[in-house]
Amino acid sequence: MRRFVPMLLTALAMMMAGCEKKTQPASTETDTSKQAAQGSGGTAPATPTPAPGTPVPTPPANSNTILLGVATSLTGGQATFGVSTRNGIDMAVKEANAADALKGKKLEIRVYDDQGKPEEAAQAVTRLITQDHVVLILGDVASSNSLAMAEKAQAAGVPMITPSSTNPAVTEKGEYIFRVCFIDPFQGFVMAKFARENLKANKVAVLQDNKSAYSIGLTDVFTRKFTEMGGKITSTESYSQGDTDYRAQLTAIKKTQPDAIYVPGYYSEVGVIARQARELGLKVPLLGGDGWDSEKLFELGGSAIQGSYFSNHYSPENPDPRIQKFVSEYKAAYGGVPDALAALAYDAANVAIDALKKAPDTSGKALRDAIAQTKDFPGIAGTVTLDEKRNAVKPAVVLKVGDGKTEYVTTVNP
Ligand code: PHE
Repeated sequence: MRRFVPMLLTALAMMMAGCEKKTQPASTETDTSKQAAQGSGGTAPATPTPAPGTPVPTPPANSNTILLGVATSLTGGQATFGVSTRNGIDMAVKEANAADALKGKKLEIRVYDDQGKPEEAAQAVTRLITQDHVVLILGDVASSNSLAMAEKAQAAGVPMITPSSTNPAVTEKGEYIFRVCFIDPFQGFVMAKFARENLKANKVAVLQDNKSAYSIGLTDVFTRKFTEMGGKITSTESYSQGDTDYRAQLTAIKKTQPDAIYVPGYYSEVGVIARQARELGLKVPLLGGDGWDSEKLFELGGSAIQGSYFSNHYSPENPDPRIQKFVSEYKAAYGGVPDALAALAYDAANVAIDALKKAPDTSGKALRDAIAQTKDFPGIAGTVTLDEKRNAVKPAVVLKVGDGKTEYVTTVNP
């Protein structure tokens, strides 16, 4: 009971602050909280009461403050991606400020919710650049969103680091766009090799999300690699993000009697696909990519998804003390085991902070050049060395879906 008292007081204080503000013109911050409230399906209240996941307004930047922009999916079908990403960045920034990493300057982040939509992601970046004057942008997760963001960041000459978008086209947008994760030509190869060598699969069917650049890209690579390794793709079916009935595609797949089904989509759809596959009597394992990584996968997929495998960036079970320290500190601060999104976001923010330390000034050009130099940077989701195409080259892990958690299976090196 006693724990609720401070919360009530805080809520009261926020309501009062909101009332006082009513007569003032809407600020950027107020807009942001409205946007997030609407994104979660509700209408914006007259007195904005921050909903979970609502960006916390940050004071305007002054000469002692360095502002970093974040655009990510805090609401919508990829909400857990955005929340983990924001948490990972928040953690890195707090640590840097506590350690006075920038010698008297304080780092702040401004976070916009793109609702998992490319148009919103593009708009968020435009706003971060033209209104907030951020020095650098971090985000997003889903490649389709990052593609839209990269276009704007590149045109404005503001460096952008995506923590976790794996589609190759993202960094191909230009020399200001970086990532701290591997790319899908590698990730698709990893799962093809695993299917062929570990599972001894001869025939695999594919079920792709035709609204996602990520899913289409992975389907392509997996198909090519699995065939090169002597396997056969029995059929390729498609769905659109947000669909809820996959029975027609799964029935068609069942007829081809595959040894496994590759489903390179996002957790929100994959969980439901797993249930419907089992209902239709399809018992073979499902295989996927990093897009499965969410605590929600267990909830949505239940026992239907157990025993399936996906490629990912790191395993929170890794006994390395540095990783276990990150896992326990994250748990204490944000609750829950940090997924790959949180780890990669933490890494991306730390790469950005490292560049800020090394760059002679905070101009786009100086920061871009500093980021491009990143070499042997010790991340949580592997060591980051950026190649000439501004991608990180690092190993992938294969995880097995268990009861409410993932189990580490193997690591595949590039
Ligand atoms: N790689 C995915 C994409 O590019 C995003 C993702 C990364 C999702 C890591 C989950 C974990 O769309």
